[in-house]
Amino acid sequence: MNYLVTGGAGFIGSHIVDYIIAHGDKVVVYDNFSTGKKSFIGQHKNNANFTLIEGDVLDTKKLAKSMKGIDFVFHMSAHADVRSGFDDHYIDHMQNLEATHSVLEAMFISGVKKIAFASTSSVYGDAEIHPTPEDSPISPTSLYGATKAACEHYIHSYAVYYDWDVYIFRFVSFIGERYTHGIIIDILKKLQNNPAALDLLSDGTPKKSSIYVGDGVDAMFTVIEKTKDKINVVNIGHDEILSVDEIVDTILEAAHSNPQKKYQGGNRGWKGDNNFVHLSNEKLKALGWKPRLSFKEGIQKTVEWILLHPVS
Ligand SMILES: NC(=O)c1ccc[n+]([C@@H]2O[C@H](COP(=O)([O-])OP(=O)(O)OC[C@H]3O[C@@H](n4cnc5c(N)ncnc54)[C@H](O)[C@@H]3O)[C@@H](O)[C@H]2O)c1
Repeated sequence: MNYLVTGGAGFIGSHIVDYIIAHGDKVVVYDNFSTGKKSFIGQHKNNANFTLIEGDVLDTKKLAKSMKGIDFVFHMSAHADVRSGFDDHYIDHMQNLEATHSVLEAMFISGVKKIAFASTSSVYGDAEIHPTPEDSPISPTSLYGATKAACEHYIHSYAVYYDWDVYIFRFVSFIGERYTHGIIIDILKKLQNNPAALDLLSDGTPKKSSIYVGDGVDAMFTVIEKTKDKINVVNIGHDEILSVDEIVDTILEAAHSNPQKKYQGGNRGWKGDNNFVHLSNEKLKALGWKPRLSFKEGIQKTVEWILLHPVS
C-alpha cells in the first residue's frame, strides 16, 4: 500500500508513519511543520519506503501532485488546539474545514479513494449519554468541534458522490511519546516556572478520558483492516475516566512534584470545554480491540517522555 499522511510530522501522524513503515508499506509525509517536528520522523529519512514533502495542505495543486500513486490518505493535519477558537474565529475554519476541503479535492483530482480522518469527541459537545455512542447528536460547543463536524459531513458527501471508503475516527485526547499540547504539557511548563504552586483552570471536577497513542493507532488499523463497510464512523477512547483532580495528581506523582494546587475556575477548563468526556468503545471492542495501557499508565509514560525531551 502507498499511504500519504497529512500532518505526518505531528504527534499522532508520526506514530501512524511509524506503524506504516514497520509493516513494510510506503508512506509520503505531507506537512508544513507549523507544529510538527522533523525529529519525529527523522528515524525514517534513509528508508526507501519513506518520502517527505514539505507543503501546505491548502495548496491543493501541490497536494494533488503529491498524491500521485497514493492508495490511502490519512488526513491528520489540523489546528489541533481546541481552546484557541474562542479568541480566533478563523483559524479552525481555515486549518480544519478549508484544509479538509483541499485534501478532498486533491484526492478527487488524483483519483485516491480511501481516507482516514482525525475527528474528535468535541463534535458531541456536552453529550447527554455517557459513554457516548457514535449515533449521539452532533452538538459542538467550540469552533474546533464545529469545523471537525463539518469536515465529517464533507467527507461523507465526497464518499457518496465518488464511492470512496472512509474512516472517520472520533478521538478522545491522545497521550504518549511526542505529545506536544494539552494538560500534561501545560502543567509541566507551569511547574518549571514555579515548582511551589500550581494554578489550574477548573475546579478539578471535570471528568475526562485519554488513550495512549500506540493503542489509538492500533485501533485505527484494526478498524481499517477488519470492517467491510464503506463509510465508518468510530470512536477511539478508553473505558476509564478520571477527574481533572485525579489527572493532575497522576501527573504530579510521575513528575515527583508536590506543589500547592490552586483550583480557580468553575466546572469547565474554559469557555466551550466539555466537562464530561467518555466515549463508547463498543464498536472497537466488537472488532477485538482493547487498549494495552491504562489511562494512568499513559499519563506516566507521557510525563516520562516530556521530562526526557523538554519542549521550549
Ligand atoms: N492530540 C489529540 O489529543 C487529538 C484529539 C482529537 C483529535 N485530534 C486530531 O488529530 C490530528 C492530529 O493531532 P496532533 O495532536 O497530532 O496534532 P499536531 O499539531 O501534533 O499535528 C498536526 C500536524 O499537522 C501539520 N499541519 C498543520 N497545519 C498544516 C497545513 N495547513 N498543511 C500541512 N501540514 C499542517 C503540523 O505541522 C503537524 O505536524 C488533528 O487533526 C487533531 O485535530 C487530536
